Amino acid sequence: MSFHPQPSPARPTLTRLGGNIGAEIHGITLSPDLSEQDVAFVYKAMLEYKVIFFRQQSLDSAGQEQLGARFGTLVAHPTVASAKGTNHIFELKAQKGRAANTWHADMTFMATYPKASILRSVHTAPYGGATLWANTATAYQALPQPLQELADKLWAIHTNDDYDHTDLVVERDWDFIRWSANVFAARIFETRHPLVRVHPETGEKSLILGNFVKRLVDFNLPDSRALLDLFLSYVTRPENTITWHWQPGDVAMWDNRAALHRAIADFGDHPRELQRVTLVGDTPVSVDGRKSEQIIDGQPNPRLLLETPYHWTARAEA
Ligand SMILES: [Fe+2]
Repeated sequence: MSFHPQPSPARPTLTRLGGNIGAEIHGITLSPDLSEQDVAFVYKAMLEYKVIFFRQQSLDSAGQEQLGARFGTLVAHPTVASAKGTNHIFELKAQKGRAANTWHADMTFMATYPKASILRSVHTAPYGGATLWANTATAYQALPQPLQELADKLWAIHTNDDYDHTDLVVERDWDFIRWSANVFAARIFETRHPLVRVHPETGEKSLILGNFVKRLVDFNLPDSRALLDLFLSYVTRPENTITWHWQPGDVAMWDNRAALHRAIADFGDHPRELQRVTLVGDTPVSVDGRKSEQIIDGQPNPRLLLETPYHWTARAEA
């Protein structure tokens, strides 16, 4: 009788991908049955590197939901229905080459926006369609001290209503405009967040920015825009980002409290599909200990029944 020793389970290893953000983890096969040690390893890596990647996993929607539940409590999107047959899967299915191609953190229009998101590639385009992430904690650290002191005092209004304040809407893209008004903003959420939050787990200060920011409190719109652009420029400088080129099955998991992300809409009209789950977050706390406040909490959008949002009608006919 010969003795065949069982191979010892592979130890996970981590490869850093950029100087300020991003790491790839090897030696872990993502599944709902992940060991406690692996769950702890993955979560710690996420906190440290802000976004972590796993190549070519074999999760399905149910597996992704169950995996997500190992790291926290799943939360569905408040206005967009979850994918058929799931309770919490947010489907990102490109139509006409559209993607979330502006910098944002997920759902910051909510006071308790998600602490983390897990994104899985289902179908990739033959070219393009990468996603970028940027570290909002190193961005804060890179601010000159007088700008840090200003940032510490600022508050911003975030909303899911009206993509007018972003560059996401292409004029006359009626399908997207209708979807934005009638589905994404069917109920309105607005939150007042500090520009700088203190991370509840790492203690790091990070900037809360992105395309759900409508304006800074106490500033007129032009000054608000100028200041927001200035702060965002520290987040999005190339050295502060990482780019991931998707292969089917790849999984990315990020700390939504310490990173912004965006897609690159350079895949023509090819199909591109990803699925996301998000984990319940905590209410951000400012440098001086004040908490974010939900100002509007799911009020029905008065423009819901309009075939075309009035402001876009006016602009299109101008
Ligand atoms: Fe997103």
